[in-house]
Amino acid sequence: MGHYKPKPEGLSTTDGDGNLPSITLKRRVKVADDMVHVLETGLEYMEINNPTGKPAVRGYNIINGQLTSASDKGTFSSSNPAHLADCLGEFPLSTRDDVHEALHAARAAFPGWAATPAPTRGQIIGNMGRLLMEHKDALVALETREIGKTLKESGGEIQEAIDTCLFFQSEGRRLYGQTVNSELPDKELFTYRRPLGVCGIINACNFPSAVPFWKMIPAIMCGNTCVWKSPQDAPLLSFALARIMHEAGLPDGVINLVHGKGSGAGQYLVDAVDEGLVNKISFTGSTGVGKMIGEVCGRNLVSCSLELGGKNPLVVMPSADLNNAVEGAYWGAFGTAGQRCTSLGNLILHEDIYDEFMERFMEKVKSTRIGNSLVHKDVLYGPMLSEKYAKDFLVGLEMAKASGATQLWGEGPITPDSAPDNFLGDANEGVFMWPHVFADVTEDMECFHEEIFGPVVTVVKAKDFDHALHLANASPYGLSSAIYTNDRLEAYRYKTGIKAGMTGINNSTTGAEAHLPFGGVKGSGNGTRESGIWVIEAYSYWHAVNDELSGKLQLAQMDVDEIEMIEAEVNWSELA
Ligand code: UN1
Repeated sequence: MGHYKPKPEGLSTTDGDGNLPSITLKRRVKVADDMVHVLETGLEYMEINNPTGKPAVRGYNIINGQLTSASDKGTFSSSNPAHLADCLGEFPLSTRDDVHEALHAARAAFPGWAATPAPTRGQIIGNMGRLLMEHKDALVALETREIGKTLKESGGEIQEAIDTCLFFQSEGRRLYGQTVNSELPDKELFTYRRPLGVCGIINACNFPSAVPFWKMIPAIMCGNTCVWKSPQDAPLLSFALARIMHEAGLPDGVINLVHGKGSGAGQYLVDAVDEGLVNKISFTGSTGVGKMIGEVCGRNLVSCSLELGGKNPLVVMPSADLNNAVEGAYWGAFGTAGQRCTSLGNLILHEDIYDEFMERFMEKVKSTRIGNSLVHKDVLYGPMLSEKYAKDFLVGLEMAKASGATQLWGEGPITPDSAPDNFLGDANEGVFMWPHVFADVTEDMECFHEEIFGPVVTVVKAKDFDHALHLANASPYGLSSAIYTNDRLEAYRYKTGIKAGMTGINNSTTGAEAHLPFGGVKGSGNGTRESGIWVIEAYSYWHAVNDELSGKLQLAQMDVDEIEMIEAEVNWSELA
C-alpha cells in the first residue's frame, strides 16, 4: 500500500510533465525502542481466554503515526455488551500530556497537509473507502462485537463510512472557489476555501464508524489535521479504522488517535481550546456536554460543530397507510435498540386511528426478537451499547414512570426471570433491555420533553392536524421528525411548519443518507451540518482575495464609475 509524503515547501507539486505525484511505497523505521510505527506491526494479542474464543488486542494511541501508550501507563478495557465476559482488548487511558502530544503532532503536520494538492488528498480518501470495502465483513463483525448493533445495521454503518469516502474522493477535484467581477477596472476578485487548522473530533459510540468519518473525511479533505478522541465504548473499532486510514497513504500526524474517557481525554481536548491549541471542535453527544463545549469555543472564537440530542416526533394521520406507519414507527423506536440520535421519541397519533394503530403496533412490539446478532439470526436489536448506557436508560425509564405516563409494555432489564417471548440466548451474559411503550403522555410531562436513549417510545394523542404539529414542535429539540399521511396538503404543511433539521414524509425518523445535510436546530445542535457538500462549510473558511492589476490605488466604492440616468420625454402610458 502506498504512502503519500507531502513535498518539502518550495518544490513543485507536479512532476516534469505536470502530472500529480504518484503515491510511492515508503518503508517505516522504528524511531525508538518503545515506539513502533502503525504500519510496521500487526495486531498485538493479549493472553486472555475469552469465553467466545475470540482474541483480545492490546490497543494503542496513534500519535504522529507511532503506536503509543498512556504516559502514566493507565489502561481501560473494552467488552462485548452482548457477552460482557468477552474482552476485546486494553487501551490507553490518555492523560493530558498524551492529548497535548497528539495536538502538537497535528499542528506540526498541518502545513504540509494543507499544501498537499486537494486531488491528492482525495486520492488518499478514496483509498480509505476501497480499504473499508475490502475489509467490510471483518469490520462489520467487529462493530457488532464491540457495541452490539445487529450485523445488518453494522453493515449499513460501515457502508455509510464508505459512501462518505467515495463522495469526498471526488470533492478533491472540486473544492471550488469563485472568480468574482470587481466594481473597478483591471482588478480581479477570487474566493478560496482555506482549512481551519487542527480539529478536535469527539464522537459517541452509537455510530462509531460512520460519524467519525462524517467528521474527519471532510476535515482532512479541506486540508485540516485532526486529533480524534475515540468513544470509550468503541476503542478497538476506532483503532482498526485509524490503522486503515494510515494504510491508505495518510501522512503521519494528519489523524492522531487518542483513547480514553469523555471526562478525561475528551475534556483535555476541549480544555486545549482555552490553551490556543485547537482551531475546531466537532462533537456528537449529549446536549449538556455540547453546551459546555459551545461555551469554551465561543469564548475563544473557535468554530464548533455540535450534533446533540433529539426527541424526534413521528405523526400518524388518518389518511396514512397504517401498516406502513406501524412499520416505520416500530423501526424508528426500536431499531438499534433505540440508540440513534434519530430514533423515534414521541409517537403522535391522531385520535381517529389511535386504537387501530396501537393494536397493530403493540402486536409487533410484543413479538420483538432480541439477542446477540453474532449468534442469533434476524434479531431486531441487540444489547445496549454498554453497561453505562444501560444504567442511564433505566434512569430514563424511572423518569417516564414518575411523569405519570401509562407503562403499556416493558419490564426494564431482560433477566432469566423477566424476558419477552422472543428474547434469544442467556440474559445473564449481556445488557439487554425490554422494548418499552409509555402511553397517555401529555405535553406537561417530563418524558414528553426529555430524550430517553434506548428502546422506548412515548405515545401522545392528537385531536387534529394543528394539534399534532403543535405537539411535534413542543419539545426542546429539533433533530429529526416524520409524518405519515396521504393528504398532500397536510404533508406540505408539516414540512413547512415543523422546526427540525430533517423530516421524513411517509418514512421513519431514521436513515439519513450520506450526501444530505445531517443536523438539527433548537436543543439538537448549533446549526452546523454534517454530510454531503454542506459539511465543507464547517471545516473551511472563505478567503476573499483581490488582485489589483492597474498599478495604482483604486478605492472601492469611491473610485467607481457613476452612471447617470437620462430620462427622455416619452409618455409610455399612452401606448395601450
Ligand atoms: C446518529 O445517530 O448519530 O440517520 C447518526 C441515521 C443514520 C445516522 C445516525 N444514518 O439514523
